[in-house]
Amino acid sequence: MNLKTAYGPYFKIGAAISKHNLNTKSNMELLLSQFNSFTCENNMKPSFFLDEEKNLANPLKYDTASALTFENARPFLDFARSNHISMRGHTLVWHNQTPRWFFCRNYDEHAGLADRETMIARLENYIRGVLVFVKNEYPGIIYAWDVVNEAVDEGMLRKSMWTETIGVDYVEKAFEFARKYAEPGTELYYNDYETAQAWKRDFIITNILEPLKERGLVDGMGMQSHLLMNHPCLTDYRTALEMYGALGLKINVTELDIHNNNPGDESMQALAKRYKELFEMLLNVKKSGQADITSVTFWNLLDENSWLTGFRRENSYPLLFWKECEPKPAYFAVLDATRII
Ligand code: GLA
Repeated sequence: MNLKTAYGPYFKIGAAISKHNLNTKSNMELLLSQFNSFTCENNMKPSFFLDEEKNLANPLKYDTASALTFENARPFLDFARSNHISMRGHTLVWHNQTPRWFFCRNYDEHAGLADRETMIARLENYIRGVLVFVKNEYPGIIYAWDVVNEAVDEGMLRKSMWTETIGVDYVEKAFEFARKYAEPGTELYYNDYETAQAWKRDFIITNILEPLKERGLVDGMGMQSHLLMNHPCLTDYRTALEMYGALGLKINVTELDIHNNNPGDESMQALAKRYKELFEMLLNVKKSGQADITSVTFWNLLDENSWLTGFRRENSYPLLFWKECEPKPAYFAVLDATRII
């Protein structure tokens, strides 16, 4: 048995991969044997598509339509096409991993911020450039895009270079442009972390998802799901799933991992138990029709490559595989979860 077969009747199962993973044969064998979806961990973010050299060398020429480079994304898209595996696109608009010069007049960091009209044009042309590239050259591969990532903070719209230049309607504009240029059938997602927390959940529903849904601009809610061993509680997670689901949107779990700093047996059994309870709940919600979960993606393949070790400043063992692509107790627990009636 493997993950993609066990979960086939319910939702796609994916993993994020880096360039290092892509170039490591054993990692790609693991991906193809267990998963039917993947996300580029970094290489399809704005800082990888925006061609710094060209834009900075010729700012007047590229002022409202930034030069893009597709060379970072191509190896991933080529891999997906030759191996018949689907991808999630991540992410078109984010306050991170987007160069500061992109927001500045003449792409000059000392010249102050570009005006609203210029930034709206840059936003539209960036989204058009990326989406038309994948639509024309790699049709049918990307089934979902995270259009906007992490726009909410502290119960309000996060202050960022996007709100500073365009204003609070940048989110709506991003979705308008994404809908305009995406290949028909590609699903558009709003993606964020801590989405089971009431303060964040309620703000996202009222201020982002409902207005976008009304205009037919959003298809799904992305719950990143960087979890801890004791947070959030699964009851809160389930409530959030049901509330997003009640809007009639699809749900993707987009960046799943569970931070755990102890690789000992007992601790890895505890991780397995938490994963099992989580997946039993996901299956339960899906089967009962309370939330249409269509894809669940782990944030990398192997513990050794997880971002959490850097982020948490301590070793982390948060995933289903480690070492030489060996399955951990958590892997068997996630498989086991499909046995619930
Ligand atoms: C956020 C982003 C991801 C990734 C993680 C850290 O969750 O959405 O793309 O950068 O942070 O790895």
